[in-house]
Order: sequence, then C-alpha cells, then structure tokens
Amino acid sequence: MNDILRNDKFVRDIKTRIYGKELFVFDILDSTNKYAMNELENRIIEEGTCYLALSQTAGIGTSGNSWESDKAFGMWLSTVLNSPVKKEPLVFVPAVAMVKMLKNYCNISAHLKWPNDVLVGNKKITGILVQAKDYGSGHVSFVLGVGLNISQRKNDFSSEIIDIATSILIETGEHYNLEDLYKEYMKYFEMFYTDESINIVDEWIKHSNMIDKIITMKRDNEIIKVKVLSITKEGYLEIENIKNRNIEIIQARAGIDIKSDYE
Ligand code: BTN
Repeated sequence: MNDILRNDKFVRDIKTRIYGKELFVFDILDSTNKYAMNELENRIIEEGTCYLALSQTAGIGTSGNSWESDKAFGMWLSTVLNSPVKKEPLVFVPAVAMVKMLKNYCNISAHLKWPNDVLVGNKKITGILVQAKDYGSGHVSFVLGVGLNISQRKNDFSSEIIDIATSILIETGEHYNLEDLYKEYMKYFEMFYTDESINIVDEWIKHSNMIDKIITMKRDNEIIKVKVLSITKEGYLEIENIKNRNIEIIQARAGIDIKSDYE
C-alpha cells in the first residue's frame, strides 16, 4: 500500500504552467483525498500538487457516501489548492473543466447538476468532493477530489449504482488512456481556475440545463417541487417553491438532494 509509481507518462508534455506538474501516482490508496488531507497536516504542499491512485479501497463521496473506485477503471485524483482561492465557488471549477474536457477530448456532451455532479443524460460520469484544511489566520488549503469513470462497462458497476452511473467507455465505445485524460483535464482545470476573464458561475450555468426547470428537491425529510430561478454569484441555488410561491436561496449541504427530473 502507498507505493509511489513513476509519473513520467502523466506529466511529460503536460500543458499546464503550475497545476498538476507535481504529481504523486499510487497503485492503491484508501482515498486520494484522505491522503492529501493527511499530507496537509504534516507538511507544506505546493499549489497544484496532485495525488492520483489507480484504485482506492475507501473512496469518499459527498454526504457521507462512498465512491466506487476499488478497481483501475477511472481517474481518482485529488488536487491541492492554497488560499487565497482564485475562483469561487471552488467546486464549480473542476465541474466546468470536466464538462469541457469530456466535450473537446471525448466528444461527450455532459451537463452539470447542482451542486457538483457531472452527468451524461441522467447518469453520473464524474463526482467531485472538496475538503478544506483550515490553519487559522485566514490560511486555508483545499483538496479537490475528482472521480471520473473511464473504462467501466455497465456490469462493472455495483447493483447500487448500475442504473445511475456511466463511464467514458459506455458513452463512446472507446478506450481512453488515463495519462492523456489527466493531462487534458488539468489543462482545462488550470485555464478555468486562473483565467481572470472567465466567470465560473456563468460557465457553470452555460453547462447546466437546470435553469427555469421544475425539479423535485428532497430537503431533510421533506420533498418539494421547485422552479430553479438562478445560481447566485456564491454558487447557491435560487428557487421558487411551486406550492406557496416562496422564493428561497439554498446552500449545498448534507440533506439536500436534487432529483434529475428536469431532464
Ligand atoms: C461524489 O460523491 O459525487 C463525490 C465523489 C468524489 C470521488 C473522488 S475519487 C478521488 C477523490 N478521493 C476520494 O476519496 N474521493 C474523491
């Protein structure tokens, strides 16, 4: 466990200036996010350092869920960012970068589901998990975890997610190389994170089809029908409750779940 592999095929010819140039590749880890968070406890990590595992024994998902990544079927990757952050909300950056990469490199039309899912149709191809390490005095580091399903066939997914997950292979019938996908993703990641002329909320909205749609939202134990009005500059969801016409601004948190019935 924790054996570091050669990274030359990943970083050779990478088109970034900073992000993803420093990369640690592992055969197997429990979780790249957990490893990166642990590293942040122990040392100063340079901006844009990445940790990638070919498989994870305990991949972490959002809302206390696990992330299926026990085989070398995907890109299980964590990137470290240090404050001050250049774009907010941070979680929108990997999401938009992934949609662009899927379109331009794999010809897959993916779209975004608030707050941080990348879907093809109503199936998830990428999940994103952002964790923070607060050192106090305004110094915070972030770990941006991205799980991209690459080469699973339908039956490789467990029964829990077989109907709600997809992969690049399923969508295109083609085999893509992990090293190339890494380089492509990091290229778009750096562009969206560092280009000051890009408004990440506008980009997110462009690649989502939720605006003006009626959706079902589960909030704690309540199920409500709402119309999505907009995404605020903080990345919150502005909704109108269909029943009582109340307008609300919703923050992403555990207990909020959106069904994909706006498809
Ligand atoms: C989600 O539940 O949608 C978020 C999934 C995030 C999975 C990635 S895989 C790489 C990184 N390491 C983890 O343990 N989780 C994230």
